Order: sequence, then C-alpha cells, then structure tokens
Amino acid sequence: MSEFKININLTKNSNINSVDFENIKFGRVNTDHMFICHFKDGKWQDGEIKPFQNISLSPATSALHYGQSIFEGMRCQKSTDGEDILLFRPEENFKRLNLSAKRMCMPEIPEQVFNRGLETLIAIDHEWIPTTQGSGLYIRPFYFASDNFLGVKESEDYIFIIYCCPVNAYYSNPLSVWVEQRYSRATKQGGVGYAKCAGNYAASMYPAKLAKEKGYDQVMWTDSEKHELIEETGTTNIFAQIGGIIVTPSLSDSILPGITRESIITFLKSKNYVVEERELDIHELVEASINGMLKEMWVSGTAATVVNIKRFHFNYKDYEVPMPENGLKDEILQALVGIKRGEIEDSFGWMKKVKPKTSANLA
Ligand SMILES: Cc1ncc(COP(=O)(O)O)c(C=O)c1O
Repeated sequence: MSEFKININLTKNSNINSVDFENIKFGRVNTDHMFICHFKDGKWQDGEIKPFQNISLSPATSALHYGQSIFEGMRCQKSTDGEDILLFRPEENFKRLNLSAKRMCMPEIPEQVFNRGLETLIAIDHEWIPTTQGSGLYIRPFYFASDNFLGVKESEDYIFIIYCCPVNAYYSNPLSVWVEQRYSRATKQGGVGYAKCAGNYAASMYPAKLAKEKGYDQVMWTDSEKHELIEETGTTNIFAQIGGIIVTPSLSDSILPGITRESIITFLKSKNYVVEERELDIHELVEASINGMLKEMWVSGTAATVVNIKRFHFNYKDYEVPMPENGLKDEILQALVGIKRGEIEDSFGWMKKVKPKTSANLA
C-alpha cells in the first residue's frame, strides 16, 4: 500500500484523573483514545486516532449476524526508568491476527496499519500504563465485517480498531478446573479453534457457566471426538510437569497458538528442561496424579501470564495438583515478568521499545 497516514484528533477532556488505578476491574476502564481504520473499496484507508467513543452501526451490520470478527490481546509495560514503553512480541500478534483473518475470509491487515496504529496509540496514551506489580496496559486490536447487507457472504467493508485498558493482574489465584466431557470449544480437524475469532468465545460461555455453577473456575477443554485429549483451559494454554518432563498439547486446528505458550517453551528449553509438545490424554494425567508423578500444572496467556492449576475434576472425582513453592510456574513467571518490565536481559529479542509521545514531540 502507499504511505499510510494517521490523522490525530486528541481529547480535550482526559479521564485519567478520575481513575482509581489501585482498584481497576479487568477490562472495565479504557484509555482516552482509540485507533480506527476502515477497509473499503478494496483497500485500507487512512487511519485516525480519536477520543475513545461509541461507534454507530446499522442493524444490518454483517458481523452481528454472521460473526466475521477477530481480535488480538496484547500487553505493554513501562520500563522502570519510565523512558520507554515495552511491547511483548507484537509481531506475533500481528501474524496471528492475519492467520485468523485468512480463516475468517477477511482481508489481511498490512503491517504498517497494525504497527503504526498500535505504536501511535500507546505512545499518546502512555500515562495510562500502570506500573505496580502485575499491572500493565492491555491492548485490544480487533476488526469486523461492517457491510450493511442481510445475506450470508464475506463482507466488502471492515472496521479495524485498537483500544487499550489499564489492568492489574488478571487471575492470580490457583485454578480449579472442570475437565469437559460433553461440550467442545472447537473441532479437531478443519475447525476454527486456532483462530482468534469471536464465535469461539461465544461457544465457550455456556460450558464455562455450567462449570462455575459446579464450583470450578474454568473448563479444561478436551478433543471434540472422544473428550480424552486435553487442549486448553478457559482462554489459556496448558502445561503439566509429569516426572521430569514438561508436557503441553501439540498445536492443532483446535488449539490457539498462544504467544505466552511459545515463549514458555523457548524459555524452558533455554534452561535445558525437557519439553514435549504432544498429545496429552486425561487418563495419563489421572494416572500421573495417582502415582505421584504429576508435579505441577499451570496455564498461560497474555492476560493471566502464568497461573497454577490446583485441582481438576474428571469422571466424578477431584484430583489435587501439587503447587510447589519456588516451582516451575514461579521460575517462568519471574522470567517473563522480568523480561516484560525490562528488568531481566531480553536474550530472546522479544521486546519492542516505543517512545512515549509528549505534547512536544507529537507530530
Ligand atoms: C483460547 C485461548 N487460548 C490461549 C490463549 C493464550 O494466548 P496468548 O498467550 O497469546 O495470550 C488465549 C488468549 O489469547 C486464548 O483466547
């Protein structure tokens, strides 16, 4: 595409002083601005940064009916000296967004639209990035079909938006999980589980509600055929340490390729841990639990980072999972949090620095 321009229209009424940063509920508070870009006439138009506001849509908006809607979730922090904004592996979110777009038959986002929109937005709203332990700025890029047409076909128009929420740690308490044997999040062959599309999350809500009613925090998803192979937990990937080996389900059509998952595998391998990406059968997990070989389990994701599983329920029985002090979850968490905050050397080349914009350097 030709050179991409962003028009900047700043708010005259910042909300920042009305926010109690110590007590933010996840996803309930947003920063002052948003980035918006339209796809129409077969191409992405110039973008705009403008005050966070409602968007007006026709009742015929295609995404509301047929679900062509995809998103990403990413985080940034401030460096300890406050000089830089630190983004964690943004190019992976960019790639995954386009992977989702392809599967949902949507036009790909050009790299400069994604990067410049993202970087300009967080540079402008940098004062919203909280700095306490576990906190950060959660960034939500998403786009959806915006044709006003009541017919099932891929849309011609799309709206891409990025907005941000200051957040504290998401769920840091160890989780109890319900191993799902009735419902599925995604189908194994040819399905859409690997795409970050809105419908996957809609499909997960009813089983998650039932699990909560039974007293469990999350659903542990299993394969859609036999409900025996473990896939993910809630909206996170899953790891189990069995004996001296760390096992995580191998990627497939039904598993979201988590960026935290991949980072954990890379980190653990760099420390010479043995990591296996393979099928993980619930019966293997039960057996490992009974014979004492199950040493620790945790889930991983951008919002949650890394959280222990303390218990899982399968076939009318609860299995307690050890949560060793200074265990692997702690080692991983320390490393990831340290790298993300710029306190530990980023030997993997994961971090991207963005300079905050002040009124002096705002182009
Ligand atoms: C279904 C699902 N699995 C796993 C993850 C973890 O992915 P990531 O580590 O990239 O946040 C997420 C969160 O995006 C998710 O929604």
